[in-house]
Amino acid sequence: MNDLTSYPRLHTRRIHAYAASFGDDLANDLILANTQEGDLCLDPFSGAATTLIQARLLGRSVIGIDIDPIATLIGKVSTTTYYDDEIKDLYDSVSKKINQTIPIMSEMILSNYECEAGCRISINGLSASVPQNEKLQFWFASLQRLILAMLVAISKSYDNPNHRNLIDLAISSAIIHKWPATISQARDIDHSRPHRVLRDNLTLTSQIGIFDNALRCVMRTLNKINRFAKKGDYICKAIEGDAVEVVNQMEPNTVDYVLASPPYFNAIDYPRAHKFSQWWLWPHRNQLASELYVGLRPHGKEDDYIEHCMSIIPRYMNEIAPLRTVSSPTHSALCRYIMDIDAIIKSLSNVLKPRTRLTFVLANNRIQDIRIPVVDIICELLRINKFQAITSKKRSIQHNRRRYPFGLRGFKGLMESEYVINARKIT
Ligand SMILES: C[S@@+](CC[C@H](N)C(=O)[O-])C[C@H]1O[C@@H](n2cnc3c(N)ncnc32)[C@H](O)[C@@H]1O
Repeated sequence: MNDLTSYPRLHTRRIHAYAASFGDDLANDLILANTQEGDLCLDPFSGAATTLIQARLLGRSVIGIDIDPIATLIGKVSTTTYYDDEIKDLYDSVSKKINQTIPIMSEMILSNYECEAGCRISINGLSASVPQNEKLQFWFASLQRLILAMLVAISKSYDNPNHRNLIDLAISSAIIHKWPATISQARDIDHSRPHRVLRDNLTLTSQIGIFDNALRCVMRTLNKINRFAKKGDYICKAIEGDAVEVVNQMEPNTVDYVLASPPYFNAIDYPRAHKFSQWWLWPHRNQLASELYVGLRPHGKEDDYIEHCMSIIPRYMNEIAPLRTVSSPTHSALCRYIMDIDAIIKSLSNVLKPRTRLTFVLANNRIQDIRIPVVDIICELLRINKFQAITSKKRSIQHNRRRYPFGLRGFKGLMESEYVINARKIT
């Protein structure tokens, strides 16, 4: 095991709001304790790229997988090398393009131009359009639609896909942001169910300022990552897809360490917030589908799930039985969740090298006053999948660093603690 005190802790600012991200200090410590330089780390639920960034900083190869396109965008930007000069030039160039559009946008606003969904506008040689989607009419004021259409057009004007990714990430970060610093009329968009608050005090300057802050925040973080990232021939990849499917396509016995915070059961609806950015960035993609997300998948044939779970974790089925009386669909969804986690553990066991380790960061939750022992259940799943030396350590959550939905389906009140589950593959 490495001496943790001899390594610097490198905190990076969040590039993008992301519910239930784990702390970069935790990821840093765990990677140091469980790997050597050059080892390959895998995070099958990479979210806001915490594992990807910390692995880069520590000189480990790393692969991140996530089903969510915003997570993938964060992952791609975090794993790309952007040089300091390149970042500065891109900032100047984007700012120049924005400034050139301001006089025309000001005139449009003064003449009470209503920027409708589906409209096309030509501004300074940029061809901007508002996607045809009536939800944009509801969630974004006319001025915000004009600015976002213009920002997307600016992003598209760059040939370099890495530059477009960086600008798109800043656009998304300006939309999915803590109220009131969001270019939208959606309050609580960044961590729970968004609700609309009509805004009549919006100005071009304040809204463009939100994007400018988001862009500078992304760029500052990238500057820091690049300054401190260990240079070398490391693999660094962010892949979009279902974790089980992608891991099953990987070579067996190739991974040195798995670090992940699997989705929380019945709790965080990522597509609910992320669709706000998707409408602008990828208007032609199918709607983000909750059915693909572990923890949100529809439960389907209840009896099949229950029977399967009964055969693998009979003891815990008794413990969660009261949930069936209170809400049979939630009980069934929990069984489905258990099966999904069982499937990912099996896939991860296949790609891990013998005697290497896996860490999951997770929390228990409570549904209608019934405690759901998610942590114990996952330890049991690890045991039946032939992992050994399984430990679970409780740690308190710093609420200023990790945002959860509260008072919503699944969690009762703010979460106080999370568990770090550690296990070793036997052979
Ligand atoms: C608790 S978050 C991970 C947070 C991450 N550790 C971080 O620091 O930001 C869980 C993630 O699992 C992803 N996810 C859910 N279902 C998935 C699936 N079937 N395959 C891959 N990723 C999935 C979600 O999109 C979400 O980003």
